[in-house]
Amino acid sequence: MAATGLPSRPSPRQAVVVDGLSFALNGNNVSYRFHVDEETGDLIGDHFGGSVDENPIAHIIRNDGGWANHAHVRREFPDLGRGDFRTPAVHIKHETGHTVCDFKYKSYTIVNGKPPLPGLPCTFGRNDEVTTLVVCLEDSYRSITAELSYSIYPQLDAIVRSVKITNNGTDKISIEKLASFSVDFPYGDYEMLQLQGEWTRECHRIRRKVDYGQQGFGSINGYSSHYNNPFLALTSPDTTESYGHAWGFSLVYTGSFSVEVEKSPQGVTRALVGMNPYHFSWSLAPGETFVSPECVSVFSNTGVGAMSRKFHRLYRQHLIKSQFVNKPRPVLLNGWEGVYFDFDEDIIYSLAEESAKLGVKLFVLDDGWFGNKYPRHNDHTSLGDWQVNTTRFPKGLGHLVERVKKLRAAGSDETLQFGLWVEPEMISKKSELYEKHPEWALHVGENPRTENRNQLVLNVALPEVQDFIIDSISGILESAPITYIKWDNNRGMHESPSPQNYHAYMLGMYRVFEKLTTKFPDVIWEGCASGGGRFDAGILQYFPQVWTSDGTDALDRIHIQFGTSLVYPASAMGAHLSAVPNEITGRTTPLTFRAHVAMMGGSFGLELDPRKISEEDRVQIPDLIGLAEKINPIVISGDMHRLVLPDNSNFPAALFISQDGNQAVLFAFQILRRQVHNFPTLRLEGLVPTARYKVDGENIYSGATLMNGGFQFRFARDYDSKVVFIEKV
Ligand code: DGJ
Repeated sequence: MAATGLPSRPSPRQAVVVDGLSFALNGNNVSYRFHVDEETGDLIGDHFGGSVDENPIAHIIRNDGGWANHAHVRREFPDLGRGDFRTPAVHIKHETGHTVCDFKYKSYTIVNGKPPLPGLPCTFGRNDEVTTLVVCLEDSYRSITAELSYSIYPQLDAIVRSVKITNNGTDKISIEKLASFSVDFPYGDYEMLQLQGEWTRECHRIRRKVDYGQQGFGSINGYSSHYNNPFLALTSPDTTESYGHAWGFSLVYTGSFSVEVEKSPQGVTRALVGMNPYHFSWSLAPGETFVSPECVSVFSNTGVGAMSRKFHRLYRQHLIKSQFVNKPRPVLLNGWEGVYFDFDEDIIYSLAEESAKLGVKLFVLDDGWFGNKYPRHNDHTSLGDWQVNTTRFPKGLGHLVERVKKLRAAGSDETLQFGLWVEPEMISKKSELYEKHPEWALHVGENPRTENRNQLVLNVALPEVQDFIIDSISGILESAPITYIKWDNNRGMHESPSPQNYHAYMLGMYRVFEKLTTKFPDVIWEGCASGGGRFDAGILQYFPQVWTSDGTDALDRIHIQFGTSLVYPASAMGAHLSAVPNEITGRTTPLTFRAHVAMMGGSFGLELDPRKISEEDRVQIPDLIGLAEKINPIVISGDMHRLVLPDNSNFPAALFISQDGNQAVLFAFQILRRQVHNFPTLRLEGLVPTARYKVDGENIYSGATLMNGGFQFRFARDYDSKVVFIEKV
């Protein structure tokens, strides 16, 4: 195995150790410890960081006699109303109207493996890969229990937490807030790293100091959103990509979320990650149970890069269920940016023909193929009417697909596969579905239904809506041999009938995803939400890849893809080469640069009109496709090292190393040409110093030379790039 900064041997410590009232979770390079305060029954955090054998030496006074009972105490599950004046992890409203809770330790159990979360996406693993500690707390005054479930993946230094609340009392309660992960860090200075963005500018890295008071971010779009990704890393101030402490938190959820970081006046930093309380209120009758989504936390003491690689492995091995997760993806061509809504069967077939000539393996028909009473000629109509438009396709979808499937991809024995775009959670006011079921759209009484992109959102919380979507999409997939679906979602939620409905929608949506992806496991399902508006760990459970952004400008894409890789594996990123000048930015970048940037995504493709490619580009594209296919297996399942960040340098670079360490591919870029006579030295990481590597099929160097000596490329022009193939000999 390559020296990736990831553990390569089993942990000598047991994964879960319980010693009296003390609990420890141990990974190869992480320990997470807490204990029960014997006097109060509260769970108190002792350590979350590098491996330890005992609790660190800490002289903490539980109650220092001031105004606050718990002000500098590290609490595992902070509740509200009894002296901890920081942001709580749980907020429950009782039938009498008060919101005080008094959770105290009751018992624990250890479970081999990891039980699934009912109705929610979650990580999984064999009994020898993950162990779960469930700690039960009880508010005995009201007979409410809170079960904190901690699962540890020792090989990946990952701890996953979710919370289950059960109402054993006789009164109804309402859960107003329930953070999936809550942890207090000891007195000290921290920084927080987040992914912030907008449409066509998703997942830009933002790093800032954690200061006294509350700071945070989240989404109230109903979905995880372009604006903020449900991910947080806390770091030490001196942490870099390859040095220092990093604690990553990634919420396995697609709905509105909230990340709260609070440094108390006493210098203790609290991190809370969970569903957004603005979009949540869950009523729990006696005997009922509610389970929160789970949040994955990964610790690294060798920098942010190793944290990301642990997330990538965890998500590839223990989250994404698709059979395609580690498989190379077919090079695709999507005609959206090429023709938009302007096509018929002849045009689509000619795009497919041209695609085949370039060596493309999968042709994708995007938006505009459906609706008859209201044909989808623009984005004002037809969502919900999932029948092929018979004017554009007089002989039906099956006929088109059969024709396309007969086209042979140049330079291979394969014939073209066919993929299709859908947006099943939406409804246009101008549609047959809306005429029939206006009550299926989200709405609140007679309030106006707020349109966005001229469309409304179906209330996927309703079982009849879920069944309609399952039947519609099943019908399409049964009607033609379609091997790829792009599942789009182009607006945030509006007029929700209740706060509860936001989460109920998510449960309904996950039910739909689970049913369809299980029923059609041979389809490559790609998530999309106007690009990366729903790029989250919840989606990845069902969809192995997501269209990373509608921003296809290659320079913007470097930032977006490097940012996205902070938590999500390259295998999950759809990345396409598009035409120039770029539609959004007006920027013209060379073909090779655009292609090389897109090859850093697991699902490489073209997003243009292949009939309009210049002769010069037409000659180069088949070779670029060949290169993409050669390196795709390494990008898909390799370890990614962000060698140089685009935020910091004119020369960003990334290295992918295959899991067996035998192959690697280096991507190096120059953004702007400046008059220099020398170029920076690019040192590799993660190779074996004593091993010998052949570089681009020519000279052989030791791993030590490549890592300590490195490369000094000579770049020539603006937007220059190199892709170098490295093989162990
Ligand atoms: C938004 C997506 O991100 C685009 O790629 C395209 O599929 C359009 N929707 C179609 O409406």
